[in-house]
Amino acid sequence: MARNKHIGILTAGGDCPGLNAAIRSVGKAALSRGMEVTGFKDGFRGLAQNFCQPLDKAALASILTVGGTILGTGRDKPHRMEMDGEIRDMTDVIVENYARQQLDALVIMGGGGTHKNALRLVEKGLNIITLPKTIDNDLALTDTSIGFDTALGIVTEVVDRLHSTAHSHHRIIVAEIMGNRAGWLALGAGIAGGADVILIPEIPYEVEKIAAAIQRRRDHGTNFSIVAVAEGAMRVADAASYAAARALKKSTKGTLEYEQAKCELAAIKSHHGGNTWRLSKQLEELTKLEARVTILGYLQRGGTPSANDRLLATRLGSLCVDLIEQECFGVLVADRGGVATPVPITDVAGNLKLIPPDHAWVQSARQVGTCLGD
Ligand code: F6P
Repeated sequence: MARNKHIGILTAGGDCPGLNAAIRSVGKAALSRGMEVTGFKDGFRGLAQNFCQPLDKAALASILTVGGTILGTGRDKPHRMEMDGEIRDMTDVIVENYARQQLDALVIMGGGGTHKNALRLVEKGLNIITLPKTIDNDLALTDTSIGFDTALGIVTEVVDRLHSTAHSHHRIIVAEIMGNRAGWLALGAGIAGGADVILIPEIPYEVEKIAAAIQRRRDHGTNFSIVAVAEGAMRVADAASYAAARALKKSTKGTLEYEQAKCELAAIKSHHGGNTWRLSKQLEELTKLEARVTILGYLQRGGTPSANDRLLATRLGSLCVDLIEQECFGVLVADRGGVATPVPITDVAGNLKLIPPDHAWVQSARQVGTCLGD
């Protein structure tokens, strides 16, 4: 008699609310079909070091509403993993452990970087299914990812709260919002929270134009403004040099110039780190209004998942187990038009979903008079 299927689950990349709801969904659906479920700890490292735990009914109980991931997560890459002070390619060790554990499938929950790593394991012949997880919502081919809706609610509430203090002190409040190289979280929460200025990586900005918009508000008697700035947003000049450095890095892989391009990119990124503070100072100088900065940071990834994220995690996780039974591997379980849909990981890995300049959210923001810095 064929043995019951044994599936592994791991969570990798930045944590977010909804991961435990997804672990619960995959786990409970698998257990209900007689499968054995093992959770690997701390991302790909757990698989490389056989650091794992059984996910039985008891382990999955009462985790639906719990933030973060009970398995732990990490940003280790299978092919470049720090082991005892050295960087080693652990891909073959992972493949061996997958076989030794007699896994029939491995469910990987992660964002953009994780999908590049998952693709490497697909190419090594492992049966991989991924779930979309990132507050950045920048994963290609899925309308939304687990974690985004909860973060949208958190950031919207922050923007709401910033209005009262900005109004009371006649100030500009600049709120820095996560999102990596995409602006979905800043744009969505900026619109929902009524930010007066929303700056996103997809639309490089000019400080003078932001100052002029704030000045126009003052001319009409409103002497405070809320500026929602995505952490990846850049001035026009910086965006040009950043794009050039990225293109150089891409085109010089494997050559001497590659290291130089990497250094150039690193220098731009480190300079970029102070962008929000520089912007705040510049706006203060240009408008003569006091300006203050709020960096939202990891608040955006904390706490219990929203109802939508719990629903999304449960929908995608249960289809994941159907696909395992159908032996449909090498796919991301995407959310497309509200339907859980398998799409090839080869089409997802390395492809960022950025905001098109003519996106409906951009048009709506402009139509209600929001300044987008251009
Ligand atoms: O990808 C999710 C994210 O929160 C990004 O928005 C942010 O830039 C990054 O992770 C922070 O990474 P870390 O948690 O490793 O500091």
